[in-house]
Amino acid sequence: MSAGLDASPAWKALSAHFSSIKDVTMKDMFANDADRFNNFHLEFEDLLFDFSKNRINEETMKLLYALAAQQDVNGLAKKMYSGEKINTTEGRAVLHIALRNQSNTPIFVDGKDVMPEVNEVLQNIKVFTEKVRSGDWKGFTGKPISNVVNIGIGGSDLGPVMVCEALKPYSKRDLNMFFCSNVDGTHITEILKQCDPETTLFLIASKTFTTQETMTNAGTAKAWVLNAFNGDASSIAKHFAALSTNGEAVSEFGIDTNNMFGFWDWVGGRYSLWSAIGTPIALSIGFDNWMEMHAGAHAMDQHFLNTPPEKNLPLTLGMIGIWYNNFFNAETVAILPYDQYMHRFAAYFQQGDMESNGKYINKEGEKVPVETGPIIWGEPGTNGQHAFYQLIHQGTKMIPCDFLAPCQTQNDVPKDLGGPVDHHPILMSNYFAQTEALAFGKDESAVREELKGKMDDDALNKLVPHKIFEGNRPTNSFLFKKLTPRMLGILIAMYEMKIFTQGAVWNINSFDQWGVELGKQLAKAILPELTGSDDVTSHDSSTNGLINYYKKNQS
Ligand code: F6P
Repeated sequence: MSAGLDASPAWKALSAHFSSIKDVTMKDMFANDADRFNNFHLEFEDLLFDFSKNRINEETMKLLYALAAQQDVNGLAKKMYSGEKINTTEGRAVLHIALRNQSNTPIFVDGKDVMPEVNEVLQNIKVFTEKVRSGDWKGFTGKPISNVVNIGIGGSDLGPVMVCEALKPYSKRDLNMFFCSNVDGTHITEILKQCDPETTLFLIASKTFTTQETMTNAGTAKAWVLNAFNGDASSIAKHFAALSTNGEAVSEFGIDTNNMFGFWDWVGGRYSLWSAIGTPIALSIGFDNWMEMHAGAHAMDQHFLNTPPEKNLPLTLGMIGIWYNNFFNAETVAILPYDQYMHRFAAYFQQGDMESNGKYINKEGEKVPVETGPIIWGEPGTNGQHAFYQLIHQGTKMIPCDFLAPCQTQNDVPKDLGGPVDHHPILMSNYFAQTEALAFGKDESAVREELKGKMDDDALNKLVPHKIFEGNRPTNSFLFKKLTPRMLGILIAMYEMKIFTQGAVWNINSFDQWGVELGKQLAKAILPELTGSDDVTSHDSSTNGLINYYKKNQS
């Protein structure tokens, strides 16, 4: 139910509780409970999730878990894991969990176990990627591959880029990875400038193999290769592979289907890095490391499915998110990894979260009466501190933040370079300081004490309000031992299941994305209008005005 969600017993209980707790400060909560960290943290393998710096108490969590139970989050999870078609608007199962189902238990869709096919494609990817990595795969002129260009967009780009960046320490450094997504010709032009056709392999990554941006870039890449090899079409088989569900379109494009790695309609684009779409990951870090990611994600999947709410990491994370989104009316969530390798992590979950839960219609086709998906954004620390943290600390908006960091660095700079100062403790001191500052702030007496004797009273009184930090700003902290492939798998699956939890509570379909269609349709209609010199008059005056200004300025 979500039509009456705000009138449901669990929601009303939370609303009443909110009125009584909304002004309580974390400072008081910590002062009154010496054991608060122990009471509000969870662990999973090498991952610690501290949620004590939130505006919650035991009653809050009890009521949030009751809401999850009322909305039957676990029931929906069971349906997903058993292959039921929970993506109702597209009539599809939702089975990215099958792609990483390393226990290999059968999962049925329409009466057929999907695991044999999953395993077969993974095996084919293993053989292919090992051939390329070892140099056995030769280009048209007999040279091994040293550049891989993945052409894809959205889910066929963001996951592979994010992972290849995050796990760079595990990568084959002499295999250059490029990711071309934007239809802006600048993107492919700049990539091609860095590549030699003889040693470049293109992966055309598209679930549908119809996406305008991807097919445009793929066409340009094909022309570039043919041009280099005097139009010899047999060069395509040596320099192109496809990652897709659409075999027919792949053949039509001219790619040998022996070089095609397939997947299925039950893999959503934004959940597809575990499927053939992850081939660039296997190329970069090796198939076994990619499987390590799968193993970590599988362990998290099992944890989410089988663990009681109060010990369940993704469920707890999701329900805390509901607390701020729906009761404090926070509009955004910042994801802030203190790990430079994770610099695309927030961008990846922008699609993961916002394409999944950016919906105002529930599964029954009615308007959801409460706020749904938050705006996700973020950058790595400490860079963000010098850019937008001012607003998080002293702005008028509540921005719940997730802080993530590894205990161990992958780059011991002083030891490697003989430098004077250890970088990692500096990074980590900032990680710890930020959540402390956000939670506890700095009150007027501390500010006055600090400024005493440094200026006259008048100047001091004027400055004091600007230097106060009211604190009470919520954060989640995630600390993990090291950013290994397994840990990255755990983290991604944790956020995926957080998104699942919230969608289940709001009773929306987290697995379709109709909201991206209208813009695509309109662009198709506008494209032919951009040629010729006649003024366009078929749109509203703004759109006409913009198109006509563009046309007049072509030379
Ligand atoms: O336009 C949105 C979208 O459909 C995403 O959901 C998807 O990840 C992306 O486009 C790319 O789609 P495809 O893999 O079919 O090219």
